[in-house]
Amino acid sequence: MEIGNRARAVEDWFAANRRRLPWRTRRSAWRSLVSEFMLQQTQVARVVEKFEPFLTRFPDPASLAAADEQEVLAMWQGLGYYRRARNLKRAAEMIVERFGGRTPLEPDELLELPGVGRYTAGAIASIAGRRRVPIVDGNVQRVLARLHEDDADPTSRDAIARAWQRATELVDACDRPDRLNEGMMELGALVCTPGMADCGVCPLATGCGARRSGRQASIPPPKRAAVKIEVHHHSVLVRRNGRLLMEQRGDDGIWAGLWQVPTVESKRKLGPSQVSRRCGVELTEIDRVGSFTHELSHRRIHVHVFRGDAAPGARAPGRTWQTRSGLERLPVSNAVRRILELG
Ligand code: ADE
Repeated sequence: MEIGNRARAVEDWFAANRRRLPWRTRRSAWRSLVSEFMLQQTQVARVVEKFEPFLTRFPDPASLAAADEQEVLAMWQGLGYYRRARNLKRAAEMIVERFGGRTPLEPDELLELPGVGRYTAGAIASIAGRRRVPIVDGNVQRVLARLHEDDADPTSRDAIARAWQRATELVDACDRPDRLNEGMMELGALVCTPGMADCGVCPLATGCGARRSGRQASIPPPKRAAVKIEVHHHSVLVRRNGRLLMEQRGDDGIWAGLWQVPTVESKRKLGPSQVSRRCGVELTEIDRVGSFTHELSHRRIHVHVFRGDAAPGARAPGRTWQTRSGLERLPVSNAVRRILELG
């Protein structure tokens, strides 16, 4: 199939088959920027829940730039990878200062924003601005690798460079860059998925190399599983007069700036008396409540939950006693949400 026809086949397929997602029903550069930040590393279903509430509170860059970071983190809760929320706020500040409050649509200008790389700049410029620029994310790279029967390791520099080159050729030949680019992502999400290539409904089936050779399952080659570091978090629900003791995590590392119940982190599992001694507040009682594992990309966290009684007059420097409604306003990780449910 000639390349222009390939591109148009994807555009037409997308127009007819796209999911109705909130950032697609009403387009603007700002909505596109927010959605792309949220979609980096977070599944579509979860982003769907968080997207409109976030935009209702922060309908434009100025409102986000002016907001308190704690509130931004609270609105980001559940999306994970909180560094993105901080970058998005800094991007909003830069849009106000440098671009008069209007989100740019030119790739070079978008690339100046923190947290925006070639993929994100291309996505906003092409999808919201219909600029003729390519995008390659994991989905697009898989579709292109199968189409061209390219069985290289997708993390290799050469494979990535070839994918960008092929995406550039397609977008140069297409009618509508917005439909082509989002269509390629959608094909990867719905049809040409990691586990299955549903070639019977694929607009690129004619002329697809992997389909011709039957190698859909081995292109791209499966990744080696990441070796995860195992750590133990011992989290203590400490109550006093109906309030719960909370502490804020530091500025670095996982869940930076989010809140948690007092937590002792260690390489090994600790017993209740060790946890009691190391949790930073004097306890008269400590009991086990339950445990679960929480998986992050590079870490497997064994979470051991305890309940403790604070000694009368116990001091807890740097921490705060929170009521239930106070707790709801603090940004916490999904793991801490689960811990709180056990309490
Ligand atoms: N992932 C990244 N951008 C996306 C988009 N616009 N639609 C669906 N999934 C996406």
